Amino acid sequence: MTTPRDPFLLPGDKPPVGEKLQKFLSASGVSSRRHAEVLIQQSRVTVNGTVATLGMRVVDGDKVRVNGVEVGPQAPRMFLVNKPTGVVTTLDDPQGRPTVASLVPDDVRVYPIGRLDLDTSGLLLMTNDGELSHRLMHPSFGVVKTYRVLVRGKVKPGAVKLLADGVALEDGMTSPAQARVIDAFADRSILELRIHEGRNRQVRRMCDAVGHPVIELVRTAYGPLTLGDLALGASRPLTDPEIRRLKKAAGLAPPRKDRTKSSEDEAVDSDGDGDATTSGNTDEQQGSKQRRDRSATGHGRRGSAGRNVGKRRRPSGGGDVEGGDSGDSDGAGSSGGD
Ligand code: URA
Repeated sequence: MTTPRDPFLLPGDKPPVGEKLQKFLSASGVSSRRHAEVLIQQSRVTVNGTVATLGMRVVDGDKVRVNGVEVGPQAPRMFLVNKPTGVVTTLDDPQGRPTVASLVPDDVRVYPIGRLDLDTSGLLLMTNDGELSHRLMHPSFGVVKTYRVLVRGKVKPGAVKLLADGVALEDGMTSPAQARVIDAFADRSILELRIHEGRNRQVRRMCDAVGHPVIELVRTAYGPLTLGDLALGASRPLTDPEIRRLKKAAGLAPPRKDRTKSSEDEAVDSDGDGDATTSGNTDEQQGSKQRRDRSATGHGRRGSAGRNVGKRRRPSGGGDVEGGDSGDSDGAGSSGGD
């Protein structure tokens, strides 16, 4: 007798047909699976003309629309973007401000992984891969994000220790982080902060809490990837080795047959400025440490910050409310940074 794969299926029950709608939407580059559920609950999704409900499955040939725009599975895409300040981390801004959608090519449908504040610049990843996106954002996977921060005042060792040990914020203590002073002057200092959480405006709030308000904030690395020489406002697709390194950092091992080491995989920082692996504890190592702890359980296009979307048929609202997945943001797209 064969054992049913679903524990709630009794022998003789038919296994469900088709694919979960939220998985289909995520594979279509609309949003993460979690946010796809929100879109379904908001009645913004139809299947063959009928408003979809949670739990629905789709089969080949079904016509799925989000906000009236037909969507379908896409090849996985992943872009590295150097976001300027003044650009909103959302795909569609009701206030008409420039959005990160204007920084990637017109013909790709990718959504931001997490969020950078309006007044934060630097490395933003955009993808249509819902599972990878979720893992890169969720703090339990331990993927480290590196920030360079210009703050007011001369930062003393005590403040650095507080930042590293954990700071009391209104939404709880921050997890241990890596913090160091890169340069200090009489009235301002440059810090590097490496955190794996992604709460709303976390770096700004941490620095405020230790008495050093942020003047300028740049994200320089996400996991093993750094900005390298990518110009402000530009974007490029990730290379295959970069995608492999990112997946490894997020605990997504490649299928066994692909597990051959290329020389690029072994290069510690083939893509950037060395930020990501300056300490003995690499992001991959930190990621796998977090997982162990839990185990009880390129096209080089210049972006233009001034142009907005609207030029593309994209189901608006999709992918711009990622915060709920990781507890990292507010869903508004204009202020929450992770
Ligand atoms: N922390 C912040 O305060 N802002 C961001 O944009 C990212 C992290």
